[in-house]
Amino acid sequence: MASFRHLFKPDPYLQSEDDKRVQTDLSGTGQIPSHVGIIMDGNGRWAEERGLTRGAGHQAGIASVRDITRAARELGIKYLTLYAFSTENWRRPRKEVALLMSLLRKMLHEEMKEMRENGVRLNTIGQSNALPKEVQRDLFGAIDDTSDNDRLTLTLALSYSGRWDLVRAMQMMALDIRRGKVSPEDIDDRLVKSYLTTAELPDPDLIIRTSGELRLSNFLLWESAYSEIYVTKTAWPDFRRDDLYDAIRDFQRRERRFGLTGNQVKKAEEITPQQESYIQRIVNALTKGN
Ligand code: FPP
Repeated sequence: MASFRHLFKPDPYLQSEDDKRVQTDLSGTGQIPSHVGIIMDGNGRWAEERGLTRGAGHQAGIASVRDITRAARELGIKYLTLYAFSTENWRRPRKEVALLMSLLRKMLHEEMKEMRENGVRLNTIGQSNALPKEVQRDLFGAIDDTSDNDRLTLTLALSYSGRWDLVRAMQMMALDIRRGKVSPEDIDDRLVKSYLTTAELPDPDLIIRTSGELRLSNFLLWESAYSEIYVTKTAWPDFRRDDLYDAIRDFQRRERRFGLTGNQVKKAEEITPQQESYIQRIVNALTKGN
C-alpha cells in the first residue's frame, strides 16, 4: 500500500524519549514550579542579527511559544504566563503593532485544536478592551472554548503592565470604599491581590527573561515579590524546552526563604501535611473575626 507519510513534515516539538527521561529526572530531583512567568525578549535583535525584519523575529517567536507551552504541560507546570504585549508596546511603529496583532490571531487559530485536546486553558491579563475588536473576538472565543480545561492555564499578558494593573486595582478599591463595600482597615495583601487581574493565579515561583536584560520591565510587579528570577542570554526565538529545563534546574538549586532564615525554612520543610493542616486550623481559629 502506498505510504503518504513522506508528505507530512515531522513535528519537531513532540515529546521525545529523551524529554520524558529529563522531565522525570526533574520531577524526581526537586520541586517543579507551579507558576512560571516568561518575559519573551529579543525577537527584534534576533532578527536584526540575521539581516531579517523585526517581524520575522516575532514570527519565529511563535515556535518557541508552542514548544514551551507543550513542555510546560508535560512537566506538570500548572500556570504559564507569557508577557506578549506590554502597555508600552503600543508606542512601537504602527506596522509592527499591526503585525503583532495579526500574529496573535494566527497563533490563536493554529494552537486552538492542540489547546482544546491537551487540557490547556487559555486566559488573558491586561487591558483587553484596548485590543482591536477582531483580536478580542478571537481571544475571548478561544478563552471560552478552553474554559473547562485544567491541566495548564496559559495566560497571555496583552496590553498589560504591572503598574497598569495596580492603578486599576486601586481605582476599583477606592470605588468600593466609597460605596461602603470595603473599609480602609480591611486592606491587606490578600485584598489587594483580589483586585488584580491576576487574582485567580498563584504568585509566580519562577520568572524567566530571555535575551539578557536584568530587569522586570513592568511584568507582574506585585506578584513577583518572592519569585526566583532567571535570565538567559538566549533570545526568545531560540529558547526551547532544553532552555526551560536549564531554568528549572537552576530554580531547584535555589533556597526560597520568603524572608525567613535558612534554619526556619529547614524546620518548616520537616512539617508533615497533617501538622500543617492542624497549624492552619489553629491560625484560622485565632484570626477569625479579626
Ligand atoms: C519582545 O521582543 C517581544 C515582543 C514585544 C512580542 C512577543 C511576541 C511573540 C513571541 C510572537 C507572538 C505574538 C504575540 C503578540 C503573542 P523585542 O521586539 O522587544 O526584541 P528586542 O528587544 O530585541 O527589540
